[in-house]
Amino acid sequence: MKVLVTGATGFLGKYILEELATQGYEVTAFGRNVSIGERLTNDKIRFIQGDFTEPSGIMAAAEGMDAIVHAGALSTVWGKWSDFYQTNVVGTENVLAACEDNQVKRLVFISSPSIYAAAKDQLQVKETEAPEKNELNFYIKSKLLAEEKIREKATVDSVILRPRGLFGVGDTSIIPRLIKVNKKIGIPLFDGGQQLIDVTCVENVALAVRLSLESSRAVGETYNITNDEPTPFKEILDQLHRELSVPVNYLSLNYSLMYGVASTLEKLYSLLRITKEPIFTKYTLYLLKYSQTLSIDKAKNELNYQPKMTVAEGIKKYAEDYRSN
Ligand SMILES: NC(=O)c1ccc[n+]([C@@H]2O[C@H](COP(=O)([O-])OP(=O)(O)OC[C@H]3O[C@@H](n4cnc5c(N)ncnc54)[C@H](OP(=O)(O)O)[C@@H]3O)[C@@H](O)[C@H]2O)c1
Repeated sequence: MKVLVTGATGFLGKYILEELATQGYEVTAFGRNVSIGERLTNDKIRFIQGDFTEPSGIMAAAEGMDAIVHAGALSTVWGKWSDFYQTNVVGTENVLAACEDNQVKRLVFISSPSIYAAAKDQLQVKETEAPEKNELNFYIKSKLLAEEKIREKATVDSVILRPRGLFGVGDTSIIPRLIKVNKKIGIPLFDGGQQLIDVTCVENVALAVRLSLESSRAVGETYNITNDEPTPFKEILDQLHRELSVPVNYLSLNYSLMYGVASTLEKLYSLLRITKEPIFTKYTLYLLKYSQTLSIDKAKNELNYQPKMTVAEGIKKYAEDYRSN
């Protein structure tokens, strides 16, 4: 089976390539960064340089493919709407058109549970609880719109995955940010960090992607993906820093005050068109303040998804790599 993977030069993409290649798939990695792309190639993986915001490149790359995994995205919490729209919405439309024109039999789209973000505790959120609209930030807005495009295109057999809080070796986002903020000012905690969160080993997300390619039942469906180990935020941080052998510094903050700061910063940055991310955004505060865990019953029942790596194992693996570098 021939599979094209967008976002292959990114964090999750590389794990998807590995998961598929080791299971006998013929894999083509798609991305803009040639130097990373060339390092990905071996006897089982080839690389095509391309930008999916350009219809012709992705159209040509999709030729002869049985399936596409669309993991490429502008994946950040701050930036211009035009950039998010172009990459995450128009890019997804181009991938859909490429699937349709090339009779690609399956599309797996990587969305995000950030679409559920709200100023409240949410436990065991089901896929059906997604809001129709959420404009907390442009990333969320663009992912919701991209999902809509996928559902509208009935001619393409698609599966949508919403994996939460990816971490693992090669992560450029969550853990590196925590390490940096811990060193600089300390990790902000509200309510003693007792809120429950779900995270996911990147290896488990790659597994869920493969299962989504293989399950006939998954067509037209959307699945939450986590490690299914809801844990208080502070407990995860303590465990991570213990494994990293780095002292952890916490910063106890007043939520109402910080919410005011974040709102003001967002308004100011938008007004002055500052593209750098503000130190706090409403979205990051929601992540730090509220519990959010997801029900993965649907993925377990329909995809036969069972996390193959525990959070503790994932943290140990990350820490070993961190200490050796
Ligand atoms: N990380 C998380 O915690 C998390 C959680 C939920 C969902 N997700 C979703 O999971 C997916 C992968 O995330 P990630 O953490 O692996 O992000 P990442 O490391 O930033 O990778 C994203 C990749 O997308 C590619 N890309 C962006 N624009 C492109 C374009 N116009 N044409 C071709 N390639 C393009 C980039 O490739 P080049 O650099 O080669 O251009 C980049 O390697 C994303 O869809 C993200 O929204 C991530």
